[in-house]
Amino acid sequence: MDVKWFENHVVLLTGATGNLGSCLLYKLALQLPTSKIFVLIRGSVQKAIESWEQSIPEQVDNIIATRKLQFILGDMTQPNLGLSSSNLLRLQNEVTLVINSAGDISLSRDLAETLPVNCSAHLTLIGLADSFTHLKHFLHVSTTFVSSFLPDGAVKEKIYSLIDDPKEELATILATGQSSYTKQFAAPYALAKYLAECLLLEGTHTFSVLVLRPCLISPAIEEPFPFYGSDGAIPVHSFFQLLLEDSEYGPFKLEQMLPRHVACNEIPVDLVARTCLAHIAKDTKGVVHASADLYLTRTVGELFDRMRYYAPEGVVETIRKAGIDHGEVTASEVFRMINQFARDWRIECTRSEELKQVAGPLGLSLPDHDPDAFFKRRIERLAKSLLDKLGSFDFSNKVYQSQAI
Ligand SMILES: NC(=O)c1ccc[n+]([C@@H]2O[C@H](COP(=O)([O-])OP(=O)(O)OC[C@H]3O[C@@H](n4cnc5c(N)ncnc54)[C@H](OP(=O)(O)O)[C@@H]3O)[C@@H](O)[C@H]2O)c1
Repeated sequence: MDVKWFENHVVLLTGATGNLGSCLLYKLALQLPTSKIFVLIRGSVQKAIESWEQSIPEQVDNIIATRKLQFILGDMTQPNLGLSSSNLLRLQNEVTLVINSAGDISLSRDLAETLPVNCSAHLTLIGLADSFTHLKHFLHVSTTFVSSFLPDGAVKEKIYSLIDDPKEELATILATGQSSYTKQFAAPYALAKYLAECLLLEGTHTFSVLVLRPCLISPAIEEPFPFYGSDGAIPVHSFFQLLLEDSEYGPFKLEQMLPRHVACNEIPVDLVARTCLAHIAKDTKGVVHASADLYLTRTVGELFDRMRYYAPEGVVETIRKAGIDHGEVTASEVFRMINQFARDWRIECTRSEELKQVAGPLGLSLPDHDPDAFFKRRIERLAKSLLDKLGSFDFSNKVYQSQAI
């Protein structure tokens, strides 16, 4: 897979300040020979740079020094994405490749709140993209949870039909804020993303449309740096933190209730980014999964065993006693959702199988990677970040639990 494919490409990247988006930005700016990257950002340029200074402090200056970045202010929930007419004209005249990674991953939003950003915004974007005169490729980031209404078994890289008329359903939700399908999905977020997929893929366009569905995203292996990733956008971290401090719904109660043999589908954020970019270069169309099969399949039982084994001694008790403010979602909601939707899904990644043999920024081969050593450090770092929030714990004397796994 040749990075030269990206030569002369002008990219429009949405969600560039987010967890996946910043990783994509790093690769597009520093690893690939793109010629220009328009980043659609909310608020101000200063706010975007401050966000990268937090998330990718060692990389942000190099990214800006490439002089490839062009900031475009907007808000994807607004008409025309909130773009000025001059910026829209620039996009219409220059962009060859759209990567749409913006979204609101909060599980606490109801359907009326999540629909504008996780469905309508993407339809606005593709509507505008139809007027981009040089556009060749449009990649939309979705989620494997769009198929959360399926029973146990294989989940293929396709849209499973559920809603007869997605356009009419969207209109109903916009008018009433309700849908009779909500309960079939893990969260309203997943229903909104399901509708977006149906409507993005049903249209006719002069460019290729690709829907890339990651499973739960985990910390990066290499890019932009090892263990990169904000806990808020790494569901296993945020769920674990939330449950840990709740005496009624602790993670170990969850462990007792979940079937040990089902897969915990997680994939490092940089492998998601590589899968996105590789499929753009291959001109893939339709639906592609980026799930655990492309990295390492671990069961729920194995995940809990390793977490317990690698957690520094005393951490769990310290955090449970202290309590941390987690914002809007409650432990009981997360507990119910995980418990109800921990299915025995085998999420197929057939379309990316060959990428496992490919090295470099567009491949999934990891010859020097040791997944267990990586997981150990990941848990230690998570424990440290939780304890840092509490401001107490002496890490110089850390001791590891020693039970066999
Ligand atoms: N995290 C996961 O485990 C996971 C799993 C599967 C799929 N995904 C999908 O991956 C994509 C990226 O998620 P992430 O984990 O990177 O989330 P994230 O860190 O929360 O990033 C979200 C990005 O979207 C932008 N955004 C939100 N609302 C916007 C709006 N109205 N207009 C313009 N930009 C807006 C945010 O900009 P601000 O900086 O201005 O807020 C931010 O850059 C999403 O489509 C998500 O559904 C994520």
